[in-house]
Amino acid sequence: MKQNKYDNPSFFSAYEQMPRSVKGLEAAGEWHILKALIPKLEGKNVLDLGCGFGWHCRYAREQHASCVTGVDISEKMIQRAREMTNDPSISYIRGPIEDVDFSNSQFDVVISSLAFHYIKSFKPICEKVYDCLKPGGTFVFSVEHPIFTSRSEQDWHLDELGNRVHWPVDNYQIEGVRDTTFLTENVTKYHRMISTYMNDLTDTGFMIKKVNESVPSDEMLKKTPEMQDENRRPMFLLLSVEK
Ligand SMILES: C[S@@+](CC[C@H](N)C(=O)[O-])C[C@H]1O[C@@H](n2cnc3c(N)ncnc32)[C@H](O)[C@@H]1O
Repeated sequence: MKQNKYDNPSFFSAYEQMPRSVKGLEAAGEWHILKALIPKLEGKNVLDLGCGFGWHCRYAREQHASCVTGVDISEKMIQRAREMTNDPSISYIRGPIEDVDFSNSQFDVVISSLAFHYIKSFKPICEKVYDCLKPGGTFVFSVEHPIFTSRSEQDWHLDELGNRVHWPVDNYQIEGVRDTTFLTENVTKYHRMISTYMNDLTDTGFMIKKVNESVPSDEMLKKTPEMQDENRRPMFLLLSVEK
């Protein structure tokens, strides 16, 4: 069965209090990098996989996309997205990304922010996205970085005083389930090597346009000096590919 953690009441309640859930994209540490990968959206038909509260769907319409579809497995996330959206050109579908079906060549741009590390197999997602994109269409997504997901602990190695000594990487080549903790709950994520992300995309037929790893913006560093540690290892991997 597919995991639907965001419908768990205590998890949802912790998630809705995160800065990115309250303040939106500008409070998301990796947004400046993802935003730069998104092509011009004017007049485009856009799909957002794992849309959560719908921030990227609304952004797409602000950029004059003609029509936007958001998909999410969580009833609570979709409900909140609908409450926050007053735009007939955005529609939300509740369902797992793995199972939704779209027409061939329906979309110009497919976006996904931080959802695919919850999905067991990446290749079928690449194939689904490839089929529903128009030729020349763009697929832009972010996932938790393989350096971040390699260990189930997903945490710094601390010294006896609690200082962050380093970020350990282990079992990198062993892909698959990582039972970890996020916010209040045990959560299952899937670790994949960088080469798997790349090869699944190119084997599907995509051309890789840009690969980025998250670094904090100067603005974020000024506002939140603790973000300096985000320069010690990348938390997110971001890619832009073309059909
Ligand atoms: C970290 S949140 C990101 C939400 C949004 N994309 C954003 O960046 O604000 C991950 C989202 O992926 C959704 N999700 C996880 N697994 C999914 C699946 N198999 N199918 C559809 N949505 C899924 C969750 O319900 C959640 O809304």
